[in-house]
Amino acid sequence: MSVEPFPDRPRVDAHEKVRGAAIYAADVALPGLLHAMLVPATIAKGRVTAVPVEAALQVPGVVRVLTATDFPPPVQPAGAGGPPPPPPMITPEIAYRGQPFAIVLAETLEAAIEGAEAIRPDYAPDLAFTPLIDSPGHRREPVEPITAGDAADAMTRAVTRHSAEYVSPAQHHNPIEMLSTTAFWADGVLTVHEGTQSTSGTKGAVGRNLRLEPDQLVVKSPQIGGGFGQKGTPQRQSAIVAHAAMLTGRPVKLVLPRGQIFHNASFRPRSRHRIEIGADATGKMIAVRYDADHQQSRSGQFPPAEYLEAAPQMYGFTDYHGTAANVRIDTQSPGYMRAPHPHPSCFAFESAVDELALMLEQDPVAFRLRHEATIDPIHNRPHSSNHLHSCLREGARRFGWDRRTAAPGSMTLPDGTLVGWGVASGAYPVHIHPNIATLTVRADGTTRFAAAAHEMGQGIRSTIEQVLVRELDIDPTRLELAIGDTSAAAQHTTAGSWGTGSVVPAALEAASRMKAALAELLGDRQVGGNLHRQLARVKRPSLSVEVTRIPYGQGQKELATFQQGGMALAGPFFPAFTTFSFIAHFVEVHVEPRTRRVRVPRVVSVADCGRVVSPRTAASQVRGGVTWAISAALREVTEVDPRYGGWLNNDLADYVVAVNADIGEIDVSFIDEPDPVVNALGVKGLGEVAMVGCAAAVANGIHHATGRRLREMPFRIETLL
Ligand code: MOS
Repeated sequence: MSVEPFPDRPRVDAHEKVRGAAIYAADVALPGLLHAMLVPATIAKGRVTAVPVEAALQVPGVVRVLTATDFPPPVQPAGAGGPPPPPPMITPEIAYRGQPFAIVLAETLEAAIEGAEAIRPDYAPDLAFTPLIDSPGHRREPVEPITAGDAADAMTRAVTRHSAEYVSPAQHHNPIEMLSTTAFWADGVLTVHEGTQSTSGTKGAVGRNLRLEPDQLVVKSPQIGGGFGQKGTPQRQSAIVAHAAMLTGRPVKLVLPRGQIFHNASFRPRSRHRIEIGADATGKMIAVRYDADHQQSRSGQFPPAEYLEAAPQMYGFTDYHGTAANVRIDTQSPGYMRAPHPHPSCFAFESAVDELALMLEQDPVAFRLRHEATIDPIHNRPHSSNHLHSCLREGARRFGWDRRTAAPGSMTLPDGTLVGWGVASGAYPVHIHPNIATLTVRADGTTRFAAAAHEMGQGIRSTIEQVLVRELDIDPTRLELAIGDTSAAAQHTTAGSWGTGSVVPAALEAASRMKAALAELLGDRQVGGNLHRQLARVKRPSLSVEVTRIPYGQGQKELATFQQGGMALAGPFFPAFTTFSFIAHFVEVHVEPRTRRVRVPRVVSVADCGRVVSPRTAASQVRGGVTWAISAALREVTEVDPRYGGWLNNDLADYVVAVNADIGEIDVSFIDEPDPVVNALGVKGLGEVAMVGCAAAVANGIHHATGRRLREMPFRIETLL
C-alpha cells in the first residue's frame, strides 16, 4: 500500500467556491416553493394552551399555519441500548425558550415572517424553571468514573500538589450557512435538501418522526457551509418541514434566522473541571484526580465522561481517577462543537500542568518532555503512534522557545507591552467508520466515486481526489465525487475528525481494484493513454468496482449498522491498541500595560495527525482551529438572563467572535508520519485536534506576561484590569 507523502495541490472546489458557484442546500430552486417560518416560544418552560392563527392567515400570501395538532405524537425512547429518539416536531409542551410551537407557510419569505410575527399564543408558563447549572431545580447525574491504578493512594505519596477549578462557558457555533431544510414529496418519495454532516442521521430522524420506510426518503447534502458539529446531529426543524411538505403537497423551504439557531441548535455546554495533580520528589506527575461536569438539558444525551479521556493519553501517568456528571437544567440539548470535549478539558488540564510546572520551577516544555506516554493507561494498551514529543520539540525550535526568560513579566517591548510565551499540548481520539464505495471510470473521460462522507468546508473532496489522482491516470477535472447523498451510497455521520481516515482507505482500495480490473480487461493487449483512452480503445464504455471497508476490530454487525444509517464507530480504543492524534501549540501574547488588551500576534502549531493527505486543506484546518481557540479564549460566551431563560446575545453583534484584527501569524507544520496500523494510509485525524490545547497556551502566555492566572474563559479586558 502506498503511504508516500502527498504533494501540495489546490483544493478541488476552490474555484467553484470563490465564484459562488457551489450549490448549498437552501440554494436549491424548486417550482411552487412555499417559504416557511417557525414561531418560537417566549417562555422558558410550560405549555402553549392556544394558538390563534386568524391574524396570520389574514397576511396576504400566508397559505397555512401548522400547530401541534397537525403533527403526529413524538417518538418514544427505544429504551436501554436503542437509539435516542429523534428531536420532537411541534408539541404544546415547551422545554426551553425559543422552542417552535407553530410553522407558517407562505408564498413569499416576507409573508411567512409577517405571519409568524402575527401569532400571539396563550401560555401556561412554569415559572419554576432552572436557567443555570447553579439555579434551584438543577439535577446532578453522575456517570461511570474512569480509573487507572490507585490515584488516592498515589496522591498520598505526592510531595507537590496543585488543585484548581477551570471553567469553559456555553458557546454557540456560528457557521456562515444557516440551518435550513427544503423538502418535497413526489412519487411516493420524500426528498430533503439540508446542510447536514449526517444525511443518514437526518434520514433516520425524519423517517422515524414521519413513520416512513427507508426507501421513501432521500437526503442530500453535497456541500455544507460550515458544520463544526452543529450539523452533526438531527436538527429540530427537519421533520417539521418535511411534514409540512407532505401535508401541502408542495416543496417547503425553511431557513432559520440566526437568533432562532441559537435557541434550537445544539451548543457547547458550560463545563467545570476540578483537577488535582500530585508530583513526587523528583518533580514528576504521579497522581491525577479529575472531576468534570457540564450543563445538560432534561433529556439530552451529550456525554460528559469524554472530558476525562485526553489527559491520560498525553503523559502516561498510571494513577488516575476521573469522575463526570450531567447537570440537568431547562435548556435545549447541548451537543458536539468542534473538539467538543478535548478543547475544554485540555484548556483545564494544560493550564493545571503549567501551574504545577511553575510550582516546581521547571520550564513548561521541559516539564512536559519528562512525561512520555507510550501506552494508554486506562486500557493498558500501546498507542498505535504518538509523536507528541516531536511536536513539542519541533514547535519549540520553530518558535524560538530557548530565548524565553522564565519569570512572569520579564519580557517586554520598548513601549511597555507585556510579552508572554505560553505552551500547551492537545490530544484527540481517532475514530473510523465502515465505508462502501463505488468507483466508475468511463471512456468518455469522466470518473465517479461515490462513498460515505460529507464536505463541510474541511476539504474532504480534496483528500479523496489526492488519492484517486495519485493512484490512477484519470482526468482530475472531470472527476465527480458523489458524497453526502443517501441515494449515492450508504452514509455515516461525518464528525469527530474521522471523515478523511474513513473514506480515503476506501478510495485507495477502489483505485487498486480498478487497476486490477483494467489489467484483467486488457489481458496482454498493449494499450496506451490514460484510463479513459484505454477503455475507449478497447470499446468498453465504462468500468466499475465496488469496495467495502470494515475498520479493524469491527465485523458484519457494525457493517449492517452502517448500512442502516446508524453510528458504527471503531476507536479510539481498538482491540490491541489506542489511537489519538496530538498537537503542540506555542503562543505569543501581548498585553497592553494600561488597557490590558490581549493580542495574539504569533502562534506555532505542530500536529501529529498521521499521514497528511492534502497538505493544503490540512494546514487550513489547523489555522481554523487555532483561530477558533483564540476566539474561545478571548471572546466567545453565550449569556443567559436567568429571569427569562434562553440566550441573550443571540446574534453576531453580541456573540463576539475573533475577527481578522485578532489573528496574527499562525505557523503550521506536521510530523507527517503515517500511523502504522490504524488504516491503510496511516491517517489519524486533524480537524479537531487542531484546536485542542491552544486556549490553554493563551492562558499560560497571559500568565507569563502578567503573573495573572485565568481559569475561566473567555479572558476579556475586564478580567485583566
Ligand atoms: Mo464535530 S464537533 O464532531 O463535527
